[in-house]
Amino acid sequence: MKTLVQHATIVSDNHRFTGNVVIENGKIAFISQEPLSAETFDEVIDAQGLLMLPGVIDTHVHFRDPGFTHKGDMATESRAAAAGGVTTVMDMPNTLPATTSEEALLEKSHLAAEKSVIRMGFYLGATRENAPRLSTIDPSLYCGVKVFLGASTGGMLLDEDEVLDNVFKTAPKPIVAHCEDQEILTILYIRARGEYSLGDAPIALHSQLRPAKACISATQRAIALAEKHGTRLHIAHVSTAEELRLIAEASDNITAEACPNYLLFCEDDYQRLGARIKCNPAVKTAADREELRKGLADGRIYTIGTDHAPHRLSEKRGGALRAASGIPMVQFSLPVMLDFVAQGFLSYEQVVTLMCHHPAELFGLSQRGYVRQGYEADFVLVAPHSPWTLTPNKILSRCNWSPLEGHTFHHRVVSTYIGGRKVYG
Ligand code: DOR
Ligand code: ZN
Repeated sequence: MKTLVQHATIVSDNHRFTGNVVIENGKIAFISQEPLSAETFDEVIDAQGLLMLPGVIDTHVHFRDPGFTHKGDMATESRAAAAGGVTTVMDMPNTLPATTSEEALLEKSHLAAEKSVIRMGFYLGATRENAPRLSTIDPSLYCGVKVFLGASTGGMLLDEDEVLDNVFKTAPKPIVAHCEDQEILTILYIRARGEYSLGDAPIALHSQLRPAKACISATQRAIALAEKHGTRLHIAHVSTAEELRLIAEASDNITAEACPNYLLFCEDDYQRLGARIKCNPAVKTAADREELRKGLADGRIYTIGTDHAPHRLSEKRGGALRAASGIPMVQFSLPVMLDFVAQGFLSYEQVVTLMCHHPAELFGLSQRGYVRQGYEADFVLVAPHSPWTLTPNKILSRCNWSPLEGHTFHHRVVSTYIGGRKVYG
């Protein structure tokens, strides 16, 4: 099978140019800026006027499979991802069973082979129990180690000094850390439960129950450990300006992930969107959001991950104490980031660096994350200047809601390919 993608505006390697891409045996065989005769190909894709980007690599999703498949599973969420131009995801360990053992990793990879339409990698969750034998678990089964320094959905937590120190010292793969200080959270929650003894607290209180200082304190702790041991550390879902500053000042082995949630929303939005934007860490001030947006363009942010965390709308009912935390986003992160290009504060090249190149580099994914000769033919075709409005009927995630309903995007994902095979469009 030989495919020609013709007249595409290719964005890769910090560069944008019009070209033709030859795909053979699932790989990019050749890229030419000269016209190629269509006759010798089995399939010709006309990409005139379309952007051709490497498939998005979303290194932070919760696909809920196994165990919480009423919220979503690998079949539904991978289709949502494909519709958003995402070709690879890395799935978090707070499933049931939790992904904390070789058996659980194997179960997930079998499920993915059966159900997923995109490529999937899996995190190994670090716990007090598996920490002593972390290095005995086959590293080819997982992409990175997830450490929750503060508990969130699922209650996974690792905040004891000695155990954490050992994990940072011995992890054979990058550590991705959820940074909220559990001690600070516990005190605030106990106080709130006392004060609101009849059940719930107003949703806007969420950002006070999980305040900036909890994030900053845990990020400082994680940075200190990574500096001590030279660990490759990626701080997940950075939500404050101060954490961004701390990470930028730290060594090069320590990097930041930003999520659309914190780039789009802030505390002021609880009034409009309620628990739909409840997530952990909580969204912070408009000033934090502004600084995170700046960090996209100036290099302080290394990757974009979505923290795609679907819950049923019925589970999102209630306020700061009762509503489930988490926001579905995997289908819309690329259009969100391309909106920033349309608004003029990011370039296409920067979006591709943040969403494709850097995630591939971080996890050492070979032959992925770029449109390059010899690389996997994982790519997405996008129509610029093609406005569309998000309505529930367009949502492929099982939960079937989005905090972005009613939003009009400037760019539209036309089709998505993995190994030269169309998975969406
Ligand atoms: O808001 C969140 N939801 N934060 C997390 O850390 C976990 C996630 C989930 O799994 O629902
Ligand atoms: Zn997460």
